[in-house]
Amino acid sequence: MNFKSIFQVAVMLLLICAPLMAQNNRLIIESDKGQTTINRHIYGHFSEHLGRCIYGGYWVGENSSIPNTRGIRNDIVEALKDVGIPNLRWPGGCFADEYHWLDGIGPREERPKMINTHWGGVVEDNSFGTHEFLDLCEQLGTEPFISANVGSGTVDEMSKWIEYVTFDGESPMANLRRENGRDEPWKVRFWGIGNETWGCGGNMTPEYYSDLYRHFATFARNYGDNRLYRVAVGANAADYNWTEVLMKNAGHHMQGLSLHYYTVPKDWSDKGSALDFNDEEYFTTIEKTLFMDELITKHGAIMDKYDPNKRIGMIVDEWGTWYNVEPGTNPGFLYQQNTMRDAIVAGINLNIFNKHADRVQMANLAQTVNVLQAVVLTDEEKMILTPTYWVFHMYKVHQNATLLPISFTSNKYKQGNREIDAVSISASKDVNGKIHITLVNADLNTEQKIDTQLLGAKAKKVIGQILTTDKIDDHNTFDNPSKVKVKDFKGASLSNGNFSITLPPCSVVMLELQ
Ligand code: AHR
Repeated sequence: MNFKSIFQVAVMLLLICAPLMAQNNRLIIESDKGQTTINRHIYGHFSEHLGRCIYGGYWVGENSSIPNTRGIRNDIVEALKDVGIPNLRWPGGCFADEYHWLDGIGPREERPKMINTHWGGVVEDNSFGTHEFLDLCEQLGTEPFISANVGSGTVDEMSKWIEYVTFDGESPMANLRRENGRDEPWKVRFWGIGNETWGCGGNMTPEYYSDLYRHFATFARNYGDNRLYRVAVGANAADYNWTEVLMKNAGHHMQGLSLHYYTVPKDWSDKGSALDFNDEEYFTTIEKTLFMDELITKHGAIMDKYDPNKRIGMIVDEWGTWYNVEPGTNPGFLYQQNTMRDAIVAGINLNIFNKHADRVQMANLAQTVNVLQAVVLTDEEKMILTPTYWVFHMYKVHQNATLLPISFTSNKYKQGNREIDAVSISASKDVNGKIHITLVNADLNTEQKIDTQLLGAKAKKVIGQILTTDKIDDHNTFDNPSKVKVKDFKGASLSNGNFSITLPPCSVVMLELQ
């Protein structure tokens, strides 16, 4: 072979191989162009009377040997305060539509018992009611979000609940509250008018519910300076017709419209295991998580038609992974373990919510303690923090920060002939002018290099944190509670104010530019 042919072969090889070689991702952040505030309520949580979320979770009772304040576990409160939990949705979920709040006030020993028909058929003794929930919120320093019973309750019942909780003056309900030991009203802005009225909340049509919503919403009163933020039940995943009808018929009467979407790796009859999954199932989990972006975009476009100024918030008040329950546990209790896969799912979802911060005003992970994609798991007196907890811990820097516009095209993560974006990113600037970037590399096998250009500012220093593991199914257990936890991140380096980032496979990273 002469020199010319060697050269030709070399060029050909280069042309064939170039697309196969990993390219660096390129990220541009416009640090002085941010306009939208990331509502801190996007980092909200959801806790239902389900399994061991309330009972055996938060609530241990005043006589428990587990350290508690008025019956509420101190360690859980401390852990949640540390992630800056902005709001807590309660009492359900499906439970909300069979909950009668009057049963949950007054002396505990006199409260009637009921059956929690949705969740395991267990006896609910109503020992955790309105006062206990609002005490929990005060201990957490979080805003309550109460879901009222529309499915099996009445307008009168809901209206009295709001009066009981928020009215300052002389009235039958405000006086009853005082008799029960609480003089001052609470401030409760967020009220959900029903839950999943398309399913467990009454199997209604959108036309029927939108009328019912208007009826209930009329009697959801503002007392004093407590201005209600009324959240109408929104769509189940891709039910775009539901959003259309609700916005058309009842848009003027609502402040928020919800959306529920869970990441279920397989299907509802066999959802897949939390711990035992292969690469293909992992890929599907991430693919299904990314669908959240499409859902918000499409529901958002319908909302834009009726509400171009984006007055009404999209409230994603149930999201997270949903697997088969841990073997040997009550199928009605929805107890599942939480691995690095869940951390990746959380990181991607939160980046998506940030991206849509002009419309998404709140989101609530399902559910905080011992249920579904929990951030806290307990076993008697023991408590562990899950990988998902650490994602919320890293991402709290985005709360109430200004979303920064970014331009980014991700490398692809491939599985057979399917491909998805490997990297998900969000950037914001906080009130002190600090820029934070959260990044997820969902790719199980390939590290991702990102050349980053920062426009409108010069960074002198970049520090960060990382959550990553050797194996995607790594998780924390009561015997090994710190297997998965945040560490300092050293994979970002500065040059001339711009910087390059190397994300290991399967990692969630938070960077702070100084
Ligand atoms: O989070 C568990 C259940 O999922 C909730 O009770 C219900 O609203 C949804 O279907």
